[in-house]
Amino acid sequence: MKILVINGPNLNLLGEREPNVYGNETLNSINEELSAKAEKMGYELEFFQSNSEGELIDALHASRLDCAGVILNAGAYTHYSYAIRDAISAIKIPVVEVHLSNVNSRDEFRKTSVIAPVCAGTIAGFGKYSYHLALDALGYRFSKEKK
Ligand code: DQA
Repeated sequence: MKILVINGPNLNLLGEREPNVYGNETLNSINEELSAKAEKMGYELEFFQSNSEGELIDALHASRLDCAGVILNAGAYTHYSYAIRDAISAIKIPVVEVHLSNVNSRDEFRKTSVIAPVCAGTIAGFGKYSYHLALDALGYRFSKEKK
């Protein structure tokens, strides 16, 4: 079973970008740890990062062909991209919205997620463990579907 982990704009700079908010770890190191966890759970992870809205939409479209679910940190697009929201509702697999930071305790504009209503759920505020919790959430969902 394959799960796609998508990271949006500016997340390629993790490790150097506002470490007080996003931590010191690079995206590669976060992804490697997540991959190891997924392997133990019996899932295969694929990773995609882009700073471009269209590329994120293309990745969401492609995921429907061979993935069971998606973990998505859409970065700032979360707060205003109706195009990404539409792409999520166009595909039938579950998409879990993830944020490293607690978006509800920051700037006013970060409190709005236009993608949340079409996602399976949202996890925010646990740093890199937000991705781990999203993986657990998908695992739980898949195990329930089997029964
Ligand atoms: C973020 C939160 C967004 O508001 C911000 O624009 C990001 C990262 C997070 O992971 O906390 O780029 O998605």
